[in-house]
Amino acid sequence: MLDSNQIHVMIEQERLEARIQELGKQISKDYEGKEILLVCVLKGGVMFMAQLAKYITVPLTMDFMVLSSYGNELISSGTVDIKKDIDEPLEGRHVLIIEDIVDTGRTLWFLKKLLEERHAASVKICTMLDKPARRVKPVEAEYTGFVIEDEFVLGYGLDYEQRYRNLPYIAYVSKADGEEK
Ligand code: IMP
Repeated sequence: MLDSNQIHVMIEQERLEARIQELGKQISKDYEGKEILLVCVLKGGVMFMAQLAKYITVPLTMDFMVLSSYGNELISSGTVDIKKDIDEPLEGRHVLIIEDIVDTGRTLWFLKKLLEERHAASVKICTMLDKPARRVKPVEAEYTGFVIEDEFVLGYGLDYEQRYRNLPYIAYVSKADGEEK
């Protein structure tokens, strides 16, 4: 568990949700006349997707994937394991991947390629946060909520040891007193 004095607000709920609303409007405009399949990367993407979907006005369906990435810096290819796949065929579908944060880019680099290989009509990425400082794979999201500094963040779906996903804002974590920077 973290000390409460280690958790600091980075993006307030109001600002975050206003931005999510903007993203929803932009996506609705860009996909006018089409139907979207939202593919949420669990667990972190769930709150973002639930909020975003309310502001998308084109028809859509939702599906979910669980991936686990081995964060071993020594494996430059980055190994990603599919723990739960989507249920629907992708052929001819407009897929929008919904992710909480792009960090090294390994997860989305793998996932985008995988979904494209299934002959989707298009595969784009919508991420709530982007942390470009740590990128090792060349991943660019078409839709980004906020670009952030290289801080460990939590809230709005993002966790620390599975907790804090329910915080209604994005917070960053500072070191505990006495802990080395
Ligand atoms: P990537 O493959 O390195 O881009 O990893 C992306 C995944 O790592 C995200 O979907 C998050 O689950 C997790 N992650 C990366 N940075 C953070 C963070 O600052 N807080 C919480 N989870 C993070």
